[in-house]
Amino acid sequence: MDNIDTKLSSLGCTLQFWHKKKISLVVGGGIAAYRVLDLIRGLKAQGAEVTVIGTEAATRFVTPLTFHAISGHPFYGDLFHPGEEGGMDHIRLAREADLVIVAPATADLMAKMAHGLANDLATAMILARRGPLLVAPAMNVAMWEHPATQRNVERLKGDGLVFCGPEAGALACGEEGMGRLAGVDTILEAARRCLEDKTLAGKHFLLTAGPTREELDPVRYLSNHSSGKMGWAIAQAALRAGAQVTLVHGPVHLPPLWGAKMVPVTSACDMFAAVMDCWETCQPSRSLDAIILTAAVADFRPVVRSSEKIKKTSSMTPMNIELEANPDILLELGRRHGAMENHQRPILVGFAAETGRAVERGREKLARKPCDLLVVNDLMEEGAGFMVDTNRVTLLDRDGLEETWPLMSKDAVGARLVEAVAARF
Ligand code: PMT
Repeated sequence: MDNIDTKLSSLGCTLQFWHKKKISLVVGGGIAAYRVLDLIRGLKAQGAEVTVIGTEAATRFVTPLTFHAISGHPFYGDLFHPGEEGGMDHIRLAREADLVIVAPATADLMAKMAHGLANDLATAMILARRGPLLVAPAMNVAMWEHPATQRNVERLKGDGLVFCGPEAGALACGEEGMGRLAGVDTILEAARRCLEDKTLAGKHFLLTAGPTREELDPVRYLSNHSSGKMGWAIAQAALRAGAQVTLVHGPVHLPPLWGAKMVPVTSACDMFAAVMDCWETCQPSRSLDAIILTAAVADFRPVVRSSEKIKKTSSMTPMNIELEANPDILLELGRRHGAMENHQRPILVGFAAETGRAVERGREKLARKPCDLLVVNDLMEEGAGFMVDTNRVTLLDRDGLEETWPLMSKDAVGARLVEAVAARF
Protein backbone atom coordinates (compact mmCIF):
# COMPACT_ATOMS: atom_id res chain seq x y z
CA MET A 1 0.00 0.00 0.00
CA ASP A 2 1.53 3.34 -0.87
CA ASN A 3 1.25 6.51 1.17
CA ILE A 4 -1.74 7.95 -0.67
CA ASP A 5 -3.67 4.68 -0.22
CA THR A 6 -2.93 4.64 3.50
CA LYS A 7 -4.06 8.25 3.85
CA LEU A 8 -7.24 7.42 1.92
CA SER A 9 -7.89 4.37 4.09
CA SER A 10 -7.50 6.48 7.24
CA LEU A 11 -9.82 9.10 5.75
CA GLY A 12 -12.18 6.28 4.76
CA CYS A 13 -12.44 5.13 8.41
CA THR A 14 -13.28 8.70 9.48
CA LEU A 15 -15.89 9.08 6.72
CA GLN A 16 -17.34 5.69 7.60
CA PHE A 17 -17.67 6.78 11.22
CA TRP A 18 -19.51 10.02 10.39
CA HIS A 19 -21.50 8.69 7.42
CA LYS A 20 -25.11 9.96 7.72
CA LYS A 21 -24.71 10.78 11.42
CA LYS A 22 -27.41 13.35 12.26
CA ILE A 23 -26.27 16.41 14.17
CA SER A 24 -28.67 18.99 15.59
CA LEU A 25 -26.54 22.10 16.05
CA VAL A 26 -27.91 24.71 18.44
CA VAL A 27 -26.39 28.14 17.79
CA GLY A 28 -26.49 30.75 20.57
CA GLY A 29 -26.35 34.51 20.09
CA GLY A 30 -22.68 35.37 20.43
CA ILE A 31 -20.07 36.75 18.07
CA ALA A 32 -18.56 33.23 17.79
CA ALA A 33 -21.72 32.22 15.87
CA TYR A 34 -19.87 33.04 12.63
CA ARG A 35 -17.18 30.46 13.48
CA VAL A 36 -19.85 27.77 13.63
CA LEU A 37 -20.08 27.95 9.84
CA ASP A 38 -16.66 26.26 9.70
CA LEU A 39 -17.88 23.64 12.15
CA ILE A 40 -20.87 22.90 9.89
CA ARG A 41 -18.48 22.59 6.92
CA GLY A 42 -16.18 20.31 8.93
CA LEU A 43 -19.03 18.02 10.00
CA LYS A 44 -20.40 17.86 6.46
CA ALA A 45 -16.95 17.15 5.01
CA GLN A 46 -16.77 14.07 7.27
CA GLY A 47 -20.17 12.87 6.01
CA ALA A 48 -22.49 14.07 8.79
CA GLU A 49 -25.87 15.74 8.21
CA VAL A 50 -26.30 18.99 10.10
CA THR A 51 -29.53 20.78 11.00
CA VAL A 52 -29.16 24.21 12.56
CA ILE A 53 -31.47 25.47 15.31
CA GLY A 54 -30.74 29.05 16.29
CA THR A 55 -31.86 31.37 19.06
CA GLU A 56 -33.38 34.68 18.04
CA ALA A 57 -30.10 36.39 19.03
CA ALA A 58 -28.05 33.97 16.88
CA THR A 59 -29.85 35.22 13.77
CA ARG A 60 -28.58 38.75 14.56
CA PHE A 61 -25.05 37.49 13.94
CA VAL A 62 -25.62 35.02 11.08
CA THR A 63 -28.75 34.96 8.95
CA PRO A 64 -31.02 31.89 8.69
CA LEU A 65 -30.34 31.93 4.96
CA THR A 66 -26.58 31.52 5.56
CA PHE A 67 -27.15 28.61 7.95
CA HIS A 68 -29.50 27.01 5.41
CA ALA A 69 -27.06 27.48 2.54
CA ILE A 70 -24.02 26.13 4.42
CA SER A 71 -25.79 23.20 6.12
CA GLY A 72 -27.92 22.27 3.11
CA HIS A 73 -30.95 21.91 5.41
CA PRO A 74 -33.71 24.34 6.47
CA PHE A 75 -32.91 26.54 9.47
CA TYR A 76 -35.14 26.15 12.54
CA GLY A 77 -35.71 29.09 14.84
CA ASP A 78 -39.40 29.38 15.67
CA LEU A 79 -41.07 27.27 18.35
CA PHE A 80 -44.53 28.25 17.15
CA HIS A 81 -43.97 27.80 13.45
CA PRO A 82 -45.90 24.63 12.59
CA GLY A 83 -43.38 22.53 10.69
CA GLU A 84 -43.91 19.16 9.06
CA GLU A 85 -44.54 17.60 12.50
CA GLY A 86 -47.45 19.91 13.36
CA GLY A 87 -45.47 22.20 15.68
CA MET A 88 -43.43 19.36 17.21
CA ASP A 89 -40.08 20.36 15.67
CA HIS A 90 -38.38 20.53 19.05
CA ILE A 91 -39.28 16.92 19.85
CA ARG A 92 -38.39 15.59 16.41
CA LEU A 93 -35.05 17.44 16.26
CA ALA A 94 -34.17 16.20 19.76
CA ARG A 95 -35.15 12.61 18.95
CA GLU A 96 -33.67 12.12 15.50
CA ALA A 97 -30.21 13.53 16.24
CA ASP A 98 -27.34 11.19 16.98
CA LEU A 99 -25.75 14.15 18.74
CA VAL A 100 -26.84 17.63 19.80
CA ILE A 101 -24.06 20.24 19.79
CA VAL A 102 -24.58 23.66 21.40
CA ALA A 103 -22.07 26.12 19.91
CA PRO A 104 -21.50 28.83 20.82
CA ALA A 105 -23.12 28.19 24.18
CA THR A 106 -23.57 31.71 25.55
CA ALA A 107 -23.87 32.55 29.27
CA ASP A 108 -27.58 33.21 28.76
CA LEU A 109 -28.22 29.96 26.91
CA MET A 110 -26.37 27.92 29.55
CA ALA A 111 -28.27 29.67 32.34
CA LYS A 112 -31.54 28.69 30.67
CA MET A 113 -30.33 25.12 30.12
CA ALA A 114 -29.18 24.80 33.74
CA HIS A 115 -32.62 25.86 34.97
CA GLY A 116 -34.65 23.85 32.48
CA LEU A 117 -36.18 26.84 30.69
CA ALA A 118 -37.82 26.04 27.37
CA ASN A 119 -39.27 29.26 26.03
CA ASP A 120 -37.88 29.05 22.49
CA LEU A 121 -37.19 26.28 19.99
CA ALA A 122 -33.49 25.91 20.94
CA THR A 123 -34.06 25.53 24.70
CA ALA A 124 -37.20 23.41 24.23
CA MET A 125 -35.27 21.05 21.96
CA ILE A 126 -32.40 20.84 24.48
CA LEU A 127 -34.85 20.04 27.29
CA ALA A 128 -36.49 17.35 25.18
CA ARG A 129 -33.10 15.75 24.43
CA ARG A 130 -32.38 12.34 25.96
CA GLY A 131 -29.13 11.34 24.18
CA PRO A 132 -25.60 12.80 24.12
CA LEU A 133 -25.25 16.57 24.20
CA LEU A 134 -22.02 18.49 23.68
CA VAL A 135 -21.61 22.09 24.86
CA ALA A 136 -18.98 24.45 23.40
CA PRO A 137 -19.16 27.73 25.34
CA ALA A 138 -17.90 31.12 24.12
CA MET A 139 -18.22 34.51 25.78
CA ASN A 140 -16.34 37.40 27.36
CA VAL A 141 -13.85 36.30 30.06
CA ALA A 142 -15.64 38.14 32.89
CA MET A 143 -18.94 36.51 31.91
CA TRP A 144 -17.25 33.09 31.82
CA GLU A 145 -15.57 33.59 35.20
CA HIS A 146 -18.70 34.97 36.87
CA PRO A 147 -19.81 32.68 39.72
CA ALA A 148 -23.30 32.43 38.22
CA THR A 149 -21.90 31.04 34.94
CA GLN A 150 -19.56 28.68 36.78
CA ARG A 151 -22.47 27.41 38.91
CA ASN A 152 -24.48 26.75 35.75
CA VAL A 153 -21.55 24.94 34.10
CA GLU A 154 -21.12 22.69 37.15
CA ARG A 155 -24.82 21.95 37.23
CA LEU A 156 -24.86 21.05 33.52
CA LYS A 157 -21.78 18.83 33.92
CA GLY A 158 -23.55 17.15 36.82
CA ASP A 159 -26.49 16.52 34.47
CA GLY A 160 -24.10 14.57 32.21
CA LEU A 161 -23.49 17.17 29.49
CA VAL A 162 -20.02 17.08 27.90
CA PHE A 163 -18.08 20.36 27.70
CA CYS A 164 -15.51 21.29 25.10
CA GLY A 165 -13.71 24.58 25.81
CA PRO A 166 -13.76 27.48 26.09
CA GLU A 167 -10.14 28.18 25.24
CA ALA A 168 -7.89 31.02 26.35
CA GLY A 169 -6.84 33.72 23.90
CA ALA A 170 -7.77 37.03 22.35
CA LEU A 171 -11.51 37.71 22.59
CA ALA A 172 -13.74 39.74 20.26
CA CYS A 173 -14.31 42.28 23.06
CA GLY A 174 -10.59 43.11 23.01
CA GLU A 175 -9.80 41.33 26.30
CA GLU A 176 -7.49 38.31 26.69
CA GLY A 177 -8.51 35.23 28.64
CA MET A 178 -10.80 32.21 28.78
CA GLY A 179 -13.79 32.52 26.52
CA ARG A 180 -12.83 31.62 22.95
CA LEU A 181 -14.88 28.98 21.19
CA ALA A 182 -12.80 25.78 20.92
CA GLY A 183 -11.25 25.16 17.49
CA VAL A 184 -13.20 23.24 14.86
CA ASP A 185 -10.88 20.21 15.05
CA THR A 186 -11.26 20.08 18.83
CA ILE A 187 -15.06 20.24 18.65
CA LEU A 188 -15.07 17.58 15.91
CA GLU A 189 -12.94 15.27 18.07
CA ALA A 190 -15.10 15.96 21.15
CA ALA A 191 -18.21 15.22 19.06
CA ARG A 192 -16.73 11.97 17.82
CA ARG A 193 -15.91 10.90 21.36
CA CYS A 194 -19.52 11.54 22.42
CA LEU A 195 -20.59 8.98 19.82
CA GLU A 196 -17.93 6.27 20.24
CA ASP A 197 -18.56 3.13 22.32
CA LYS A 198 -16.90 3.62 25.70
CA THR A 199 -15.37 0.16 25.89
CA LEU A 200 -12.50 1.43 28.04
CA ALA A 201 -14.51 3.61 30.43
CA GLY A 202 -12.89 3.52 33.87
CA LYS A 203 -9.49 2.42 32.50
CA HIS A 204 -6.40 4.57 32.82
CA PHE A 205 -3.62 4.53 30.20
CA LEU A 206 -0.18 6.06 30.77
CA LEU A 207 1.77 6.75 27.58
CA THR A 208 5.13 8.20 26.65
CA ALA A 209 5.70 9.80 23.25
CA GLY A 210 8.14 11.86 21.23
CA PRO A 211 11.88 12.34 21.64
CA THR A 212 13.90 13.51 24.63
CA ARG A 213 16.56 16.22 24.50
CA GLU A 214 19.86 15.90 26.33
CA GLU A 215 21.47 19.32 26.62
CA LEU A 216 25.16 19.93 26.01
CA ASP A 217 24.94 23.65 26.72
CA PRO A 218 22.19 26.32 26.53
CA VAL A 219 22.33 26.13 22.73
CA ARG A 220 22.87 22.49 21.73
CA TYR A 221 21.33 19.15 22.54
CA LEU A 222 21.38 15.47 21.53
CA SER A 223 18.03 14.10 20.33
CA ASN A 224 16.37 12.00 17.61
CA HIS A 225 13.73 12.23 14.87
CA SER A 226 10.65 11.13 16.82
CA SER A 227 7.65 13.34 15.99
CA GLY A 228 5.32 11.94 18.65
CA LYS A 229 2.75 10.89 15.99
CA MET A 230 2.72 7.21 16.99
CA GLY A 231 2.13 8.02 20.67
CA TRP A 232 -0.50 10.63 19.84
CA ALA A 233 -2.39 8.11 17.68
CA ILE A 234 -2.47 5.50 20.47
CA ALA A 235 -3.50 8.09 23.05
CA GLN A 236 -6.27 9.31 20.73
CA ALA A 237 -7.59 5.77 20.25
CA ALA A 238 -7.64 5.17 24.02
CA LEU A 239 -9.45 8.48 24.60
CA ARG A 240 -12.02 7.65 21.93
CA ALA A 241 -12.72 4.35 23.69
CA GLY A 242 -13.42 6.31 26.88
CA ALA A 243 -10.15 5.72 28.77
CA GLN A 244 -8.46 8.29 30.97
CA VAL A 245 -5.09 9.11 29.39
CA THR A 246 -1.91 10.57 30.86
CA LEU A 247 0.53 11.44 28.08
CA VAL A 248 4.13 12.15 29.12
CA HIS A 249 5.83 13.58 26.07
CA GLY A 250 9.08 15.13 24.91
CA PRO A 251 9.31 18.27 22.74
CA VAL A 252 7.01 17.82 19.71
CA HIS A 253 5.07 20.03 17.29
CA LEU A 254 1.68 18.42 17.83
CA PRO A 255 -1.38 20.08 19.39
CA PRO A 256 -2.38 18.93 22.89
CA LEU A 257 -4.88 16.07 22.82
CA TRP A 258 -8.28 17.16 24.02
CA GLY A 259 -9.24 15.33 27.20
CA ALA A 260 -5.76 13.91 27.95
CA LYS A 261 -3.59 14.90 30.89
CA MET A 262 -0.57 16.28 29.03
CA VAL A 263 2.77 16.12 30.88
CA PRO A 264 5.49 17.87 28.82
CA VAL A 265 9.10 16.97 29.65
CA THR A 266 12.47 17.60 28.04
CA SER A 267 15.11 15.08 29.04
CA ALA A 268 15.11 11.33 29.65
CA CYS A 269 15.58 11.98 33.38
CA ASP A 270 12.50 14.27 33.37
CA MET A 271 10.51 11.59 31.52
CA PHE A 272 11.66 8.89 33.93
CA ALA A 273 10.64 11.05 36.92
CA ALA A 274 7.22 11.94 35.41
CA VAL A 275 6.39 8.29 34.60
CA MET A 276 7.48 7.01 38.02
CA ASP A 277 5.54 9.80 39.71
CA CYS A 278 2.35 8.78 37.88
CA TRP A 279 3.01 5.08 38.57
CA GLU A 280 3.59 5.70 42.30
CA THR A 281 0.52 7.94 42.60
CA CYS A 282 -1.71 5.35 40.93
CA GLN A 283 -0.26 2.17 42.41
CA PRO A 284 -1.86 2.23 45.90
CA SER A 285 -5.35 2.47 44.34
CA ARG A 286 -4.36 0.30 41.33
CA SER A 287 -5.75 3.03 39.13
CA LEU A 288 -3.36 2.43 36.25
CA ASP A 289 -4.39 -0.24 33.74
CA ALA A 290 -1.93 0.02 30.86
CA ILE A 291 1.43 1.66 30.18
CA ILE A 292 2.52 2.09 26.57
CA LEU A 293 6.02 3.45 25.97
CA THR A 294 6.37 4.80 22.43
CA ALA A 295 8.87 7.54 23.29
CA ALA A 296 12.28 7.46 21.67
CA VAL A 297 14.19 8.05 24.89
CA ALA A 298 17.86 9.01 24.57
CA ASP A 299 19.94 6.19 26.00
CA PHE A 300 22.77 8.57 26.95
CA ARG A 301 23.28 12.14 28.15
CA PRO A 302 26.38 14.32 28.37
CA VAL A 303 28.20 13.85 31.69
CA VAL A 304 28.65 17.63 31.90
CA ARG A 305 26.16 20.28 30.79
CA SER A 306 28.00 23.53 30.24
CA SER A 307 26.15 26.54 31.68
CA GLU A 308 27.52 28.68 28.83
CA LYS A 309 27.73 28.06 25.10
CA ILE A 310 30.77 25.87 24.38
CA LYS A 311 33.13 28.00 22.30
CA LYS A 312 34.74 26.65 19.19
CA THR A 313 38.54 26.65 19.34
CA SER A 314 40.99 25.16 16.86
CA SER A 315 42.42 22.82 19.50
CA MET A 316 39.02 21.16 20.01
CA THR A 317 39.00 18.83 17.03
CA PRO A 318 38.27 16.02 17.17
CA MET A 319 35.85 16.93 19.91
CA ASN A 320 34.91 14.25 22.42
CA ILE A 321 31.71 14.39 24.42
CA GLU A 322 31.65 12.12 27.42
CA LEU A 323 28.25 10.43 27.84
CA GLU A 324 26.63 8.54 30.67
CA ALA A 325 23.63 6.20 30.60
CA ASN A 326 20.13 7.52 31.17
CA PRO A 327 17.71 5.63 33.41
CA ASP A 328 15.65 3.10 31.46
CA ILE A 329 11.92 3.59 32.07
CA LEU A 330 10.81 0.30 30.54
CA LEU A 331 13.47 -1.68 32.37
CA GLU A 332 12.54 -0.10 35.72
CA LEU A 333 8.79 -0.66 35.22
CA GLY A 334 9.49 -4.27 34.16
CA ARG A 335 11.53 -4.77 37.33
CA ARG A 336 8.77 -3.33 39.53
CA HIS A 337 6.07 -5.37 37.78
CA GLY A 338 8.15 -8.53 38.11
CA ALA A 339 7.78 -8.26 41.89
CA MET A 340 3.98 -7.97 41.70
CA GLU A 341 1.08 -10.41 41.32
CA ASN A 342 -0.25 -10.61 37.75
CA HIS A 343 -3.66 -9.16 38.57
CA GLN A 344 -2.11 -6.20 40.42
CA ARG A 345 0.07 -4.82 37.68
CA PRO A 346 -0.82 -2.68 34.66
CA ILE A 347 -0.24 -4.15 31.21
CA LEU A 348 3.17 -2.98 30.05
CA VAL A 349 3.81 -2.37 26.34
CA GLY A 350 7.21 -1.42 24.94
CA PHE A 351 8.19 -0.34 21.45
CA ALA A 352 11.37 -1.39 19.67
CA ALA A 353 12.82 0.82 16.96
CA GLU A 354 15.20 -1.35 14.93
CA THR A 355 17.24 -0.86 11.77
CA GLY A 356 17.17 -4.29 10.14
CA ARG A 357 16.50 -7.85 11.47
CA ALA A 358 13.73 -6.14 13.45
CA VAL A 359 11.79 -9.17 14.71
CA GLU A 360 14.92 -11.09 15.72
CA ARG A 361 16.29 -8.04 17.56
CA GLY A 362 12.86 -7.39 19.03
CA ARG A 363 12.89 -10.88 20.56
CA GLU A 364 16.29 -10.17 22.09
CA LYS A 365 14.94 -6.86 23.46
CA LEU A 366 11.92 -8.62 24.95
CA ALA A 367 14.26 -10.97 26.79
CA ARG A 368 16.23 -8.02 28.20
CA LYS A 369 13.32 -5.67 28.87
CA PRO A 370 10.42 -7.65 30.34
CA CYS A 371 7.04 -6.35 29.13
CA ASP A 372 3.72 -7.94 28.20
CA LEU A 373 3.80 -6.80 24.56
CA LEU A 374 6.60 -5.45 22.42
CA VAL A 375 5.72 -3.52 19.25
CA VAL A 376 8.57 -3.75 16.77
CA ASN A 377 9.02 -1.33 13.88
CA ASP A 378 11.85 -1.28 11.38
CA LEU A 379 13.07 2.27 10.71
CA MET A 380 14.63 1.13 7.42
CA GLU A 381 11.25 0.19 5.94
CA GLU A 382 9.50 2.76 3.78
CA GLY A 383 6.46 4.22 5.52
CA ALA A 384 7.50 2.90 8.94
CA GLY A 385 8.97 4.51 12.05
CA PHE A 386 9.88 8.16 12.58
CA MET A 387 7.84 11.15 11.41
CA VAL A 388 5.65 9.49 8.73
CA ASP A 389 1.87 9.13 9.14
CA THR A 390 2.04 5.35 8.65
CA ASN A 391 3.69 2.41 10.36
CA ARG A 392 4.23 -1.29 9.89
CA VAL A 393 4.61 -3.16 13.14
CA THR A 394 5.03 -6.66 14.51
CA LEU A 395 3.61 -7.55 17.92
CA LEU A 396 5.64 -9.89 20.09
CA ASP A 397 4.79 -11.32 23.48
CA ARG A 398 6.47 -13.60 26.00
CA ASP A 399 4.34 -16.61 24.95
CA GLY A 400 5.69 -16.59 21.41
CA LEU A 401 3.11 -14.32 19.73
CA GLU A 402 4.44 -12.89 16.47
CA GLU A 403 1.81 -10.90 14.60
CA THR A 404 2.78 -8.62 11.73
CA TRP A 405 0.25 -6.00 10.71
CA PRO A 406 0.23 -4.52 7.20
CA LEU A 407 1.39 -0.97 6.55
CA MET A 408 -1.38 1.21 8.03
CA SER A 409 -1.95 4.77 9.14
CA LYS A 410 -0.60 5.41 12.65
CA ASP A 411 -4.21 6.13 13.65
CA ALA A 412 -5.18 2.62 12.57
CA VAL A 413 -2.14 1.07 14.32
CA GLY A 414 -3.11 3.02 17.46
CA ALA A 415 -6.72 1.81 17.36
CA ARG A 416 -5.67 -1.80 16.77
CA LEU A 417 -3.02 -1.71 19.49
CA VAL A 418 -5.51 -0.31 22.01
CA GLU A 419 -7.86 -3.18 21.08
CA ALA A 420 -5.01 -5.68 21.56
CA VAL A 421 -4.25 -4.23 24.99
CA ALA A 422 -7.95 -4.17 25.93
CA ALA A 423 -8.21 -7.85 25.01
CA ARG A 424 -5.64 -8.58 27.73
CA PHE A 425 -7.58 -6.86 30.54
O1 PMT B 1 7.25 9.54 17.11
P1 PMT B 1 7.14 9.04 15.69
O2 PMT B 1 7.81 9.97 14.71
O3 PMT B 1 5.71 8.74 15.32
O4 PMT B 1 7.95 7.68 15.59
C1 PMT B 1 7.50 6.54 16.25
C2 PMT B 1 8.65 5.75 16.87
C3 PMT B 1 9.55 5.22 15.77
C4 PMT B 1 9.46 6.62 17.83
C5 PMT B 1 7.99 4.57 17.69
O5 PMT B 1 7.24 3.78 16.81
C6 PMT B 1 9.05 3.71 18.39
O6 PMT B 1 9.61 2.79 17.84
N1 PMT B 1 9.33 4.04 19.67
C7 PMT B 1 10.41 3.44 20.47
C8 PMT B 1 11.72 4.11 20.15
C9 PMT B 1 12.86 3.57 20.96
O7 PMT B 1 13.46 4.31 21.70
O8 PMT B 1 13.09 2.31 20.87
P2 PMT B 1 14.24 1.49 21.69
O9 PMT B 1 14.32 0.22 20.96
O10 PMT B 1 15.48 2.35 21.80
O11 PMT B 1 13.63 1.35 23.14
C10 PMT B 1 12.86 0.22 23.52
C11 PMT B 1 11.78 0.64 24.50
O12 PMT B 1 12.39 1.11 25.70
C12 PMT B 1 10.86 1.73 24.02
O13 PMT B 1 9.56 1.43 24.47
C13 PMT B 1 11.38 2.97 24.73
O14 PMT B 1 10.36 3.93 24.99
C14 PMT B 1 11.91 2.37 26.03
N2 PMT B 1 13.01 3.11 26.63
C15 PMT B 1 14.20 3.28 25.99
C16 PMT B 1 15.25 3.94 26.61
C17 PMT B 1 15.05 4.43 27.92
N3 PMT B 1 16.03 5.08 28.54
N4 PMT B 1 13.88 4.27 28.53
C18 PMT B 1 12.86 3.62 27.91
O15 PMT B 1 11.77 3.45 28.49
